[in-house]
Order: sequence, then C-alpha cells, then structure tokens
Amino acid sequence: MSTESDLPQGETIRVEIDDNRIAWLYFDRPEKRNAMNPTLNREMFAALDALEDDDRVAVVVLTGTGDSFSAGMDLKEYFRETDGKPRSVQHRVRGEGTNWQYRKLLNYAKPTIAMVNGWCFGGAFVPLVSCDLALASEDATFGLSEVNWGVTPGNLVTRALAETIPTRDAMFYIMTGQHFDGQKAADMRLVNEAVPADQLRQRTIDLALQLTSLSQWVVRGAKMGFRHSRLMSWEAAEDYLYAKHDQAILFDKDAREQGMTQFLDDKTYRPGLGTYATSAE
Ligand code: COA
Repeated sequence: MSTESDLPQGETIRVEIDDNRIAWLYFDRPEKRNAMNPTLNREMFAALDALEDDDRVAVVVLTGTGDSFSAGMDLKEYFRETDGKPRSVQHRVRGEGTNWQYRKLLNYAKPTIAMVNGWCFGGAFVPLVSCDLALASEDATFGLSEVNWGVTPGNLVTRALAETIPTRDAMFYIMTGQHFDGQKAADMRLVNEAVPADQLRQRTIDLALQLTSLSQWVVRGAKMGFRHSRLMSWEAAEDYLYAKHDQAILFDKDAREQGMTQFLDDKTYRPGLGTYATSAE
C-alpha cells in the first residue's frame, strides 16, 4: 500500500494506491455522511486528474469512508450557502460538481468502479452511474430523496437514471423518494452486483484484477466505444468504432498479435473462455 506524500490529498478526500495497481479514492467527510460540498468537488477533480496520469494506477475505485458512500450534495454548503449569491457563482459551483461527477468520469482514461458501501442519496447517483462498473453492499441504502426535502432531482441525477435503470423504476423512485437497498439496486441494474458487506472489498479487488489483466488500451477503447457510439448514427458509429479499434492496435500491437498467435498457432488458450498469457506470466 502506497502512502507517499505524492498521492493526491485534500481535506475531504482520501487516496490510497495498493500493490494491485488499484487506487482507492474515498469521499472522506464521514461526520457529514460524505456529502459533496464545493471543496470536495474541487478535490475530487484534482485527484482524478492526478490518478489518470499516475503509472502506479490501472483502476480507480470510488468509495466512501465510514458508513456512507455519499449522502449526495451538501444541503448547507452547496445549496443554502449559495442561495442569494450571483447567478455566476451558482453556475461555477454547479460546474465544479458536474466537472468530475460525470464529465471527468464518463471520459476517464482508466477503468473505474463505484463501490457503494453505505448511504447513497441524490447527487451521489451521478458519480455512481458515471463509473464504468458498480458494486454495492447488500445493506447499502439508496434513495432519490430530493422530493422529500422539497426539490426536484438536481444536477444530472435524472439523466443518469435514464442511462441505467428501467423507466418504471426510475419514475417510482424519483417521484416517491422511497429508499431501497443494495440488492434492489442490483435487481434493477443500477449496480452490477450486490454482495454481503464483509465481501464487498474483496469482490471489488477481484473485479479490478480482471480489468488489470487485460490490455489497458483495449479496455479503454472498448469502454469509450460503448459510451459514445450509442448516441451516434450507425454511420458515425461505424467510423468511430473502427477508429477506436485501430487505435487500440496501434498503441498495443502485442495484445492482438499474442491473442491470435496463442489461439490459432500455439493453441494454448481459447478466447471464448479466458485471456491470452502476457509475457510477464
Ligand atoms: N448535506 C449536508 N449535511 C448532511 C447531509 C447532506 N446531504 N447528509 C448528512 N449531513 C449531515 C447532517 O446534517 C449531520 O450534521 P451535524 O452532525 O452537523 O448535525 C451529519 O451529516 C450526520 O447526519 P445524520 O442525519 O445525523 O446521520 P444519520 O446517520 O442519522 O442519517 C442519512 C444518515 C444519510 C440518512 C441522513 O443524514 C440524510 O437523510 N441525509 C440527507 C440525504 C439526502 O437527502 N441527500 C440528497 C442531497 S441531493
């Protein structure tokens, strides 16, 4: 576990890099249930930037300290304290949130996993959905609680839900504000899986290791291809996806070469059932 002082730091976040090349990026305001205030939004953006450039990191896991993933936007510092400020201030504060919560995460160069360890409300759904994959503790508590305190879902919460869960479920939870648990989140595909709390970290490590065992250029091209092509015409998607395909080969020739040679010539593995051996193995 890396604890060097060159890790990204802040008052509201915590970062660890382990020997598996996993960066653990924590919301770290447990006394405020990891609610996202303007400082946290700025610190998250800077930390994600730094981890993207850090060769010690292959996968980023976003999670929270204490008993919360994140209780959403900070009602005091994000909402009340910006009330009555010039529109330009509100615009900037909102932008600092969305900058990392979807813009940075959706386009992130490395694979990302949200590990939902506890409370997850409102605005927290945006970084949750923007991570590539998500795992939750079965007893985590989720909710679109905005209607409960008198507002419509803010930020890009509604858009994020439309991206992931079925319309009937989205409408139900947006309109009623009822909360639900991790198993329900998995049933409606808000997260990939829910596991017992004491297995969550190990399951996250296992998933991250699956991703680090593959060519990072290929994984990057595959995820960007899915994210962006679904909003394109078929013609534009054909051009873009082949560009991604060729880019991955250009940046990592060995992956495809080894993949084909070991299957077609050496007959040492079957791509349908596993991955080729890298030179390190
Ligand atoms: N914004 C600001 N402060 C928050 C917060 C939020 N979203 N969520 C929790 N806090 C603060 C509380 O005000 C409290 O502060 P205090 O100690 O200074 O009084 C502290 O965190 C602990 O909260 P508390 O409610 O006592 O914890 P709990 O464990 O009993 O309940 C929650 C946890 C998450 C169920 C509850 O805090 C809650 O409902 N939070 C709001 C969730 C929400 O609606 N988020 C959507 C925002 S878009």
